[in-house]
Amino acid sequence: MGILENKARARLFYKYLSKVYDEINPFVWNEEMRDRALEWFDVGPEDVVLDVGCGTGFATEGLLSHTEHVHGLDQSAHQLERAFSKFGKRGPVTFYRGDAERLPFGEDSFDALWSSGSIEYWPNPVAALREFRRVVEPGGTVLVVGPDYPNSTLFQRLADAFEHHIQQRRPGTPRAITTVATVPGDPDAESGAGTEASVETGKPRSSEAADDSVEA
Ligand SMILES: C[S@@+](CC[C@H](N)C(=O)[O-])C[C@H]1O[C@@H](n2cnc3c(N)ncnc32)[C@H](O)[C@@H]1O
Repeated sequence: MGILENKARARLFYKYLSKVYDEINPFVWNEEMRDRALEWFDVGPEDVVLDVGCGTGFATEGLLSHTEHVHGLDQSAHQLERAFSKFGKRGPVTFYRGDAERLPFGEDSFDALWSSGSIEYWPNPVAALREFRRVVEPGGTVLVVGPDYPNSTLFQRLADAFEHHIQQRRPGTPRAITTVATVPGDPDAESGAGTEASVETGKPRSSEAADDSVEA
């Protein structure tokens, strides 16, 4: 396990990194890469989307150009403070302080879920992926951007089993791997009233979510 795959250490790390995150981030994950990944994500204006590990809101901002119904979650109060300074606490995005591995939302709360540059900090990414499956409705898209394409042949085979894209700002800089998956199940099942309600309000379909919101 890497040194930052520990929630407390990652929070401490981002307490300091948050001060310069937006200046450093473009060296490894820039607008062009993000916008290309947004094309693969392919969400529409009616979609309710959750951005897990939203940080200072770099990807959140890109998501907002595709849909108005964007929710951002991060475990770092310091990263969220930076996001508030861009979008406001009660602006176009609803923010939550929370853990990717224990999402404070009910089943099928979102049409799609995005997470960029965060999975490498989660001690138990499988638990988080289970959570993604739970909170995204069947047929919805989950897009995860991870830090690199694996060197080992075995892990490359695993990665190749999913739709993925490798990006690199230029040769020699770190590579990013973006994976796009579909939540299994019948996409037509249980659509209707719940979906419309969320579209109208732009809120998750669970009242639980409001309790953990950090809007205030
Ligand atoms: C590299 S930043 C990515 C920020 C943003 N998604 C982007 O694309 O620029 C990683 C973020 O993941 C957050 N993070 C790390 N572990 C987390 C966890 N267990 N739950 C929620 N957020 C987490 C960090 O606080 C940090 O803001």
